[in-house]
Amino acid sequence: MTTPDHYAVFGHPIAHSKSPRIHQMFARQLGDEIIYTAQDVPPDCFVVAVRSFQAGGGKGLNCTVPLKELAFRLADQLSSRAELSGAVNTLMWRETQLFGDNTDGVGLLRDLTTNLGLTLKQRRILILGAGGAVRGILGPILMQQPSQIVIANRTLSRAEELAQRFGHLGRLSTTNFINLAGSQFDLIINATAAGLKGETPPLPEGLVAAGGCCYDLMYGDQPTPFVRWGEAQGAKLSTDGLGMLVEQAAEAYLLWRGTRPETKEIITQLRHSK
Ligand code: ATR
Repeated sequence: MTTPDHYAVFGHPIAHSKSPRIHQMFARQLGDEIIYTAQDVPPDCFVVAVRSFQAGGGKGLNCTVPLKELAFRLADQLSSRAELSGAVNTLMWRETQLFGDNTDGVGLLRDLTTNLGLTLKQRRILILGAGGAVRGILGPILMQQPSQIVIANRTLSRAEELAQRFGHLGRLSTTNFINLAGSQFDLIINATAAGLKGETPPLPEGLVAAGGCCYDLMYGDQPTPFVRWGEAQGAKLSTDGLGMLVEQAAEAYLLWRGTRPETKEIITQLRHSK
Protein backbone atom coordinates (compact mmCIF):
# COMPACT_ATOMS: atom_id res chain seq x y z
CA MET A 1 0.00 0.00 0.00
CA THR A 2 1.36 3.45 -0.91
CA THR A 3 1.27 6.30 1.60
CA PRO A 4 -0.83 9.29 0.48
CA ASP A 5 1.14 12.41 -0.50
CA HIS A 6 1.46 14.84 2.38
CA TYR A 7 0.85 18.59 2.03
CA ALA A 8 0.46 21.27 4.68
CA VAL A 9 -0.26 24.92 5.32
CA PHE A 10 2.12 26.82 7.57
CA GLY A 11 1.03 30.07 9.21
CA HIS A 12 0.94 31.90 12.52
CA PRO A 13 -1.80 31.78 13.71
CA ILE A 14 -3.30 28.90 11.71
CA ALA A 15 -6.09 27.41 13.87
CA HIS A 16 -8.94 28.84 11.77
CA SER A 17 -7.46 28.00 8.37
CA LYS A 18 -9.95 26.56 5.89
CA SER A 19 -7.16 25.18 3.67
CA PRO A 20 -7.16 21.59 5.06
CA ARG A 21 -10.89 21.34 4.42
CA ILE A 22 -10.64 22.87 0.94
CA HIS A 23 -7.81 20.57 -0.16
CA GLN A 24 -9.63 17.50 1.17
CA MET A 25 -12.70 18.58 -0.83
CA PHE A 26 -10.50 18.84 -3.94
CA ALA A 27 -9.00 15.40 -3.31
CA ARG A 28 -12.40 13.82 -2.81
CA GLN A 29 -13.70 15.41 -6.01
CA LEU A 30 -10.74 14.08 -8.00
CA GLY A 31 -10.61 10.65 -6.35
CA ASP A 32 -7.17 11.41 -4.89
CA GLU A 33 -6.01 10.42 -1.47
CA ILE A 34 -3.89 13.06 0.24
CA ILE A 35 -2.91 14.14 3.72
CA TYR A 36 -3.17 17.91 4.30
CA THR A 37 -2.35 19.31 7.71
CA ALA A 38 -2.19 22.79 9.25
CA GLN A 39 0.86 23.69 11.30
CA ASP A 40 1.39 26.72 13.50
CA VAL A 41 4.86 27.95 12.56
CA PRO A 42 6.19 31.19 14.08
CA PRO A 43 8.54 33.05 11.70
CA ASP A 44 11.72 32.12 13.59
CA CYS A 45 10.89 28.40 13.27
CA PHE A 46 10.03 28.57 9.56
CA VAL A 47 13.24 27.25 8.00
CA VAL A 48 13.54 24.34 10.42
CA ALA A 49 9.86 23.47 9.95
CA VAL A 50 10.20 23.42 6.13
CA ARG A 51 13.29 21.21 6.28
CA SER A 52 11.72 18.77 8.70
CA PHE A 53 8.54 18.61 6.58
CA GLN A 54 10.72 17.76 3.59
CA ALA A 55 12.69 15.16 5.58
CA GLY A 56 9.40 13.52 6.54
CA GLY A 57 8.50 13.07 2.86
CA GLY A 58 6.25 16.16 2.51
CA LYS A 59 5.46 17.07 -1.10
CA GLY A 60 4.22 20.64 -1.01
CA LEU A 61 3.41 23.53 1.28
CA ASN A 62 1.17 26.54 1.43
CA CYS A 63 2.46 29.51 3.41
CA THR A 64 0.23 32.20 4.78
CA VAL A 65 0.59 35.29 6.95
CA PRO A 66 3.26 36.13 8.17
CA LEU A 67 5.46 33.64 6.28
CA LYS A 68 5.11 34.58 2.60
CA GLU A 69 8.18 36.81 2.42
CA LEU A 70 10.26 34.20 4.29
CA ALA A 71 9.10 31.54 1.84
CA PHE A 72 10.12 33.84 -1.01
CA ARG A 73 13.62 34.11 0.45
CA LEU A 74 13.96 30.39 1.14
CA ALA A 75 12.94 29.15 -2.33
CA ASP A 76 15.76 28.04 -4.67
CA GLN A 77 13.67 28.75 -7.78
CA LEU A 78 10.76 31.14 -8.29
CA SER A 79 7.92 31.44 -10.79
CA SER A 80 7.86 34.78 -12.56
CA ARG A 81 4.71 35.82 -10.69
CA ALA A 82 6.37 35.01 -7.34
CA GLU A 83 9.45 36.93 -8.41
CA LEU A 84 7.32 39.95 -9.26
CA SER A 85 5.33 39.94 -6.04
CA GLY A 86 8.22 39.26 -3.68
CA ALA A 87 6.07 36.74 -1.82
CA VAL A 88 5.47 32.98 -2.04
CA ASN A 89 2.31 31.18 -0.92
CA THR A 90 3.04 27.79 -2.52
CA LEU A 91 6.18 25.67 -2.22
CA MET A 92 7.08 22.31 -3.73
CA TRP A 93 10.20 20.25 -4.19
CA ARG A 94 11.47 19.66 -7.69
CA GLU A 95 14.20 17.06 -7.27
CA THR A 96 16.24 18.71 -4.53
CA GLN A 97 15.27 22.27 -5.45
CA LEU A 98 12.59 24.15 -3.52
CA PHE A 99 10.29 25.88 -6.03
CA GLY A 100 8.20 28.88 -4.94
CA ASP A 101 5.07 30.23 -6.62
CA ASN A 102 2.44 32.83 -5.78
CA THR A 103 -1.12 31.83 -6.64
CA ASP A 104 -2.88 34.68 -4.80
CA GLY A 105 -3.10 37.07 -7.75
CA VAL A 106 -4.34 34.51 -10.22
CA GLY A 107 -6.79 33.25 -7.57
CA LEU A 108 -8.25 36.72 -7.10
CA LEU A 109 -8.47 37.29 -10.84
CA ARG A 110 -10.21 34.02 -11.38
CA ASP A 111 -12.77 34.78 -8.69
CA LEU A 112 -13.40 38.28 -10.05
CA THR A 113 -13.64 37.37 -13.72
CA THR A 114 -14.73 33.71 -13.99
CA ASN A 115 -16.85 33.33 -10.85
CA LEU A 116 -18.28 36.83 -10.47
CA GLY A 117 -18.29 37.76 -14.15
CA LEU A 118 -16.53 41.11 -13.71
CA THR A 119 -14.45 42.82 -16.39
CA LEU A 120 -11.35 44.73 -15.31
CA LYS A 121 -10.26 46.08 -18.68
CA GLN A 122 -10.86 49.82 -18.94
CA ARG A 123 -12.31 49.92 -15.43
CA ARG A 124 -11.34 52.30 -12.61
CA ILE A 125 -9.92 50.26 -9.74
CA LEU A 126 -9.15 51.38 -6.20
CA ILE A 127 -6.93 49.22 -4.01
CA LEU A 128 -6.99 49.91 -0.27
CA GLY A 129 -3.77 48.98 1.53
CA ALA A 130 -0.14 48.62 0.54
CA GLY A 131 1.11 45.54 2.39
CA GLY A 132 2.13 42.06 1.33
CA ALA A 133 -1.37 41.16 0.16
CA VAL A 134 -1.30 43.97 -2.41
CA ARG A 135 2.07 42.89 -3.80
CA GLY A 136 0.56 39.48 -4.55
CA ILE A 137 -2.36 40.85 -6.57
CA LEU A 138 -1.04 43.95 -8.35
CA GLY A 139 0.74 42.23 -11.25
CA PRO A 140 -2.23 40.15 -12.44
CA ILE A 141 -4.60 43.13 -12.04
CA LEU A 142 -2.33 45.42 -14.06
CA MET A 143 -2.19 42.84 -16.83
CA GLN A 144 -5.96 43.19 -17.28
CA GLN A 145 -5.35 46.78 -18.44
CA PRO A 146 -7.74 48.74 -16.24
CA SER A 147 -8.07 52.41 -17.21
CA GLN A 148 -6.91 53.50 -13.76
CA ILE A 149 -5.46 51.95 -10.61
CA VAL A 150 -5.22 53.99 -7.45
CA ILE A 151 -3.51 52.60 -4.35
CA ALA A 152 -4.72 54.29 -1.17
CA ASN A 153 -2.97 53.63 2.10
CA ARG A 154 -2.79 55.05 5.61
CA THR A 155 1.00 55.31 5.22
CA LEU A 156 1.45 56.99 1.85
CA SER A 157 5.15 56.07 1.50
CA ARG A 158 4.27 52.34 1.38
CA ALA A 159 1.84 52.97 -1.50
CA GLU A 160 4.55 54.96 -3.30
CA GLU A 161 7.03 52.10 -2.92
CA LEU A 162 4.54 49.77 -4.60
CA ALA A 163 3.90 52.24 -7.40
CA GLN A 164 7.65 52.30 -8.07
CA ARG A 165 8.02 48.55 -7.95
CA PHE A 166 5.11 47.84 -10.32
CA GLY A 167 5.19 51.05 -12.37
CA HIS A 168 6.78 49.33 -15.37
CA LEU A 169 3.63 47.23 -15.82
CA GLY A 170 1.17 50.11 -16.01
CA ARG A 171 0.22 53.46 -14.57
CA LEU A 172 -0.40 53.51 -10.83
CA SER A 173 -1.30 56.49 -8.70
CA THR A 174 -1.18 56.75 -4.94
CA THR A 175 -3.06 58.67 -2.29
CA ASN A 176 -4.17 58.64 1.30
CA PHE A 177 -7.79 57.97 2.23
CA ILE A 178 -8.95 61.58 2.73
CA ASN A 179 -7.84 62.69 -0.71
CA LEU A 180 -10.06 60.09 -2.34
CA ALA A 181 -13.05 62.40 -1.81
CA GLY A 182 -14.73 63.21 -5.13
CA SER A 183 -13.35 60.16 -7.00
CA GLN A 184 -15.38 57.20 -8.21
CA PHE A 185 -14.41 53.61 -8.94
CA ASP A 186 -15.90 50.60 -10.68
CA LEU A 187 -14.14 48.16 -8.35
CA ILE A 188 -12.80 48.73 -4.83
CA ILE A 189 -10.58 46.00 -3.38
CA ASN A 190 -9.88 46.03 0.34
CA ALA A 191 -6.43 44.63 1.15
CA THR A 192 -5.98 46.38 4.49
CA ALA A 193 -5.85 44.55 7.81
CA ALA A 194 -8.42 46.98 9.28
CA GLY A 195 -11.11 44.27 9.31
CA LEU A 196 -9.12 42.26 11.85
CA LYS A 197 -10.04 44.95 14.35
CA GLY A 198 -13.62 45.13 13.12
CA GLU A 199 -12.90 48.40 11.27
CA THR A 200 -12.93 49.73 7.74
CA PRO A 201 -10.41 52.29 6.48
CA PRO A 202 -11.75 55.86 6.94
CA LEU A 203 -13.22 56.28 3.45
CA PRO A 204 -15.21 59.23 2.13
CA GLU A 205 -18.76 58.75 0.87
CA GLY A 206 -19.57 58.30 -2.79
CA LEU A 207 -16.55 56.28 -3.94
CA VAL A 208 -18.56 53.47 -5.53
CA ALA A 209 -19.58 54.34 -9.10
CA ALA A 210 -23.05 53.38 -10.35
CA GLY A 211 -22.91 49.60 -10.92
CA GLY A 212 -19.60 49.41 -9.06
CA CYS A 213 -18.44 46.47 -6.91
CA CYS A 214 -16.54 45.97 -3.65
CA TYR A 215 -14.28 43.00 -2.90
CA ASP A 216 -12.66 42.24 0.45
CA LEU A 217 -9.59 39.98 0.41
CA MET A 218 -10.56 38.99 3.94
CA TYR A 219 -13.34 36.52 4.63
CA GLY A 220 -15.22 35.43 7.68
CA ASP A 221 -18.22 33.52 8.88
CA GLN A 222 -20.10 36.82 9.05
CA PRO A 223 -20.00 39.59 6.41
CA THR A 224 -16.77 41.55 6.97
CA PRO A 225 -16.92 45.25 7.94
CA PHE A 226 -15.80 46.19 4.40
CA VAL A 227 -18.46 43.99 2.77
CA ARG A 228 -21.04 45.76 4.90
CA TRP A 229 -19.54 49.13 3.99
CA GLY A 230 -19.86 48.25 0.28
CA GLU A 231 -23.49 47.26 0.72
CA ALA A 232 -24.24 50.49 2.58
CA GLN A 233 -22.59 52.47 -0.25
CA GLY A 234 -24.94 50.87 -2.79
CA ALA A 235 -22.42 48.58 -4.52
CA LYS A 236 -23.98 46.26 -7.10
CA LEU A 237 -21.96 43.45 -5.54
CA SER A 238 -20.05 43.46 -2.25
CA THR A 239 -18.30 40.22 -1.41
CA ASP A 240 -15.56 38.72 0.72
CA GLY A 241 -12.48 36.75 -0.37
CA LEU A 242 -13.74 33.19 0.13
CA GLY A 243 -13.75 32.61 -3.64
CA MET A 244 -10.18 33.86 -3.92
CA LEU A 245 -9.15 31.52 -1.10
CA VAL A 246 -10.56 28.52 -2.96
CA GLU A 247 -9.13 29.63 -6.31
CA GLN A 248 -5.60 30.18 -4.99
CA ALA A 249 -5.83 26.72 -3.38
CA ALA A 250 -6.94 25.18 -6.69
CA GLU A 251 -3.91 26.73 -8.41
CA ALA A 252 -1.64 25.25 -5.73
CA TYR A 253 -3.29 21.85 -6.17
CA LEU A 254 -2.72 22.11 -9.92
CA LEU A 255 0.94 22.92 -9.38
CA TRP A 256 1.44 20.02 -6.99
CA ARG A 257 -0.64 17.32 -8.67
CA GLY A 258 -1.15 18.40 -12.28
CA THR A 259 -4.96 18.57 -12.12
CA ARG A 260 -7.10 21.61 -11.38
CA PRO A 261 -10.18 20.88 -9.27
CA GLU A 262 -13.59 22.33 -10.18
CA THR A 263 -14.10 25.17 -7.73
CA LYS A 264 -17.65 26.46 -8.22
CA GLU A 265 -19.44 23.75 -6.28
CA ILE A 266 -16.85 23.87 -3.50
CA ILE A 267 -17.23 27.63 -3.03
CA THR A 268 -21.01 27.17 -2.82
CA GLN A 269 -20.67 24.37 -0.28
CA LEU A 270 -18.31 26.41 1.90
CA ARG A 271 -20.62 29.44 1.76
CA HIS A 272 -23.55 27.39 2.93
CA SER A 273 -21.71 25.59 5.71
CA LYS A 274 -20.23 28.64 7.45
P1 ATR B 1 -0.64 41.99 4.63
O1 ATR B 1 0.52 41.10 4.33
O2 ATR B 1 -1.88 41.27 5.09
O3 ATR B 1 -0.93 42.96 3.52
P2 ATR B 1 0.70 44.10 6.12
O4 ATR B 1 1.89 44.05 5.22
O5 ATR B 1 0.92 44.24 7.60
O6 ATR B 1 -0.21 42.81 5.96
O7 ATR B 1 -0.25 45.28 5.61
C1 ATR B 1 -1.43 45.61 6.26
C2 ATR B 1 -2.12 46.75 5.51
O8 ATR B 1 -3.31 47.10 6.21
C3 ATR B 1 -1.31 48.01 5.38
O9 ATR B 1 -1.64 48.65 4.17
C4 ATR B 1 -1.80 48.81 6.59
O10 ATR B 1 -1.59 50.21 6.46
P3 ATR B 1 -0.16 50.86 6.84
O11 ATR B 1 0.77 50.54 5.72
O12 ATR B 1 -0.44 52.30 6.99
O13 ATR B 1 0.24 50.20 8.15
C5 ATR B 1 -3.26 48.50 6.54
N1 ATR B 1 -3.99 48.70 7.79
C6 ATR B 1 -3.86 47.99 8.93
N2 ATR B 1 -4.75 48.43 9.86
C7 ATR B 1 -5.45 49.45 9.29
C8 ATR B 1 -6.50 50.31 9.71
N3 ATR B 1 -7.03 50.21 10.95
N4 ATR B 1 -6.98 51.22 8.84
C9 ATR B 1 -6.46 51.32 7.61
N5 ATR B 1 -5.46 50.56 7.13
C10 ATR B 1 -4.96 49.62 7.96
